[in-house]
Amino acid sequence: MVIEEEETTSVLLHERRVFRPSAAVVEAARVKDWEAELTAGQDIEAYWAAKAGQFEWFAPWTQVLDSRDAPFYKWFVGGRTNITHNAVDRHLSTERRDRVALLYVNERGEEYRVTYAELASEVNKMANALMKLGVRKGDRVAMYLPPCVEAAVSMLACAKIGAVHSVVYAGFSVRALADRIHDANAKVLITADGTFRRGKVIDLKSVADEAVGASPSIKTTVVVRHAGNPVVSGTIGREMLYDELIEGANSECAAEPMDAEDALFILYTSGSTGMPKGVVHTTGGYMVATATTLQTVFDIHDDDVWWCTADVGWITGHSYCVYAPLLAGTTSLIYEGAPDYPEPDALWRVVERNAVTKFYTAPTTIRHLMRFGEKWPQGCDLSSLKILGSVGEPINPEAWVWYYEHVGGLRCPIMDTWWQTETGCFMISPLPVSALKPGSATKPLPGIEADVMDLDGKPVPPGRGGLLVIKTPWPSMLRTLYNNPDRYKKTYWEQIPGGIYVSGDIARKDEDGYFWIQGRADDVLKIAGHRIGTSEIESAFVSHPAVSEAAVIGTPDPIRGEVIKAFIILKEGYAETPELVKELRKHVRHELGPIAVIGAIVFTATLPKTRSGKIMRRVLKARELGIDVGDVSTLIET
Ligand code: PRX
Repeated sequence: MVIEEEETTSVLLHERRVFRPSAAVVEAARVKDWEAELTAGQDIEAYWAAKAGQFEWFAPWTQVLDSRDAPFYKWFVGGRTNITHNAVDRHLSTERRDRVALLYVNERGEEYRVTYAELASEVNKMANALMKLGVRKGDRVAMYLPPCVEAAVSMLACAKIGAVHSVVYAGFSVRALADRIHDANAKVLITADGTFRRGKVIDLKSVADEAVGASPSIKTTVVVRHAGNPVVSGTIGREMLYDELIEGANSECAAEPMDAEDALFILYTSGSTGMPKGVVHTTGGYMVATATTLQTVFDIHDDDVWWCTADVGWITGHSYCVYAPLLAGTTSLIYEGAPDYPEPDALWRVVERNAVTKFYTAPTTIRHLMRFGEKWPQGCDLSSLKILGSVGEPINPEAWVWYYEHVGGLRCPIMDTWWQTETGCFMISPLPVSALKPGSATKPLPGIEADVMDLDGKPVPPGRGGLLVIKTPWPSMLRTLYNNPDRYKKTYWEQIPGGIYVSGDIARKDEDGYFWIQGRADDVLKIAGHRIGTSEIESAFVSHPAVSEAAVIGTPDPIRGEVIKAFIILKEGYAETPELVKELRKHVRHELGPIAVIGAIVFTATLPKTRSGKIMRRVLKARELGIDVGDVSTLIET
């Protein structure tokens, strides 16, 4: 199988410069020799076992990796620990105790600091309150929350008592929330009165109420008073205010000794079918790998001010706003608001005000802010910044260079981190001392073995495209798909022979062994870095009474990377009017939430299909891009 570079990728190839670290970066870095570190990471079990040693274990593990029941791998077998104990309580006997753990900032300029000692007390109160609500080890707790301190506290409180959290991004619609609550059979939902966005308060409670109405498993809804929206009581089930729930709760709570392989959380992500996949992460390996990768890639120290701009509702928020920075004992800045409100320097003002040292965001944010010009970052003092990061989609060299020049002041290396909801932690990424090629995530991290292969499981030569695969297990890998182990095996482990993890991405390696990610191989779109399946979008379209059939593809967008183009066959009796187009846009937005950004809707009489009636999106895509059908072959069907 050969995948030639597509239009989008060739754009990546225009920038040929290699950016080497300055003496100052090397001087400051914990890891000074990239190649030596990669070599050290080749003994995978020894590497991860050494990293696990920095944490407190209630019982030691007896085996680092158990592959007997592959692909249901087990890490740190027999070990018992608690991630909240390690992320919070462990620091209380050190000087981190009075350092800021969470620094909450919003677009209205409000700030709120929580020290490790305060965080411990808040988490314990919430953990006790959840137990009072009947939540026990293994029970699922759903969350539909803005980025806020209570979100982190609630996640950590669940983990402290062994409850499994399932956070749903607060931009998702009623249906998406209800589907996820239902699949996880969640007992409690934690939500808020609203969230701040571009000077407005977006109501979350009414979405939550509607979803709870369709979710009989929810026994209690907990409401955080966050945005000053009047809280109207829902009519279904028991409802409690967060403040009242934790008021008077005991601020001491023993950590549940969790088996390293006990579930920590479920996070739903889009796949190729309509029903999102409940990615399950477990305790020990996730703890070790998220913290280690943050320490190695961003060289995190106690006195850093680390800012990951992701929402807590996505894996990036779970791993790198909450767990990894707290495990590493640093300060994590949580921001709520739009990046360009009240002015296009909103983010840079936050960096300036809080002396942020490490800043991690998505290419779509950079491209969006580039449009307003460099005067906005130039008008702020960004000299506190030391390292920058990028995640979620390939970063085009133009955005990379702008970020490097105008945000990083030609001083800060950019860590382009490739990873996924499923991987839990960064997988392919430079270290601060690496030689950087804009547009490439460089090489697999120490302890990670990635490659580019064809469908027969054979490595493809440099310069050729193929499937991006991970050849050996890693500690923070997903363990299964919730209630669907068969789909887990089929989606990730049975696409090619040899027990190799297939990521769903297409990539190529160059002569220097640098990886260049070219995008998804399956029917998954990346809109502004957010992952959404074509089938989910198509079902949203066909749930409108006028639509008989729908096929959607992603088309290139200069800011968002990709947007939706929909091909629609109408039912008899419906006319192709501009009003209907408007209505369909509104309908899909209502069904899926604002992440489903529609570029164009076209009406058509037929759709290209296989003999078995499956829509051939790749044909639509090839026509759209004006390329040969063979070049966009859908490699994976899951
Ligand atoms: O296609 C890859 C892209 O994002 C996908 C994973 O999406 P999600 O599970 O939502 O997690 C996003 C945050 C980790 C991948 O399969 N992707 C992620 N990071 C990069 C990337 N593509 C290119 N370069 C990256 N740095």
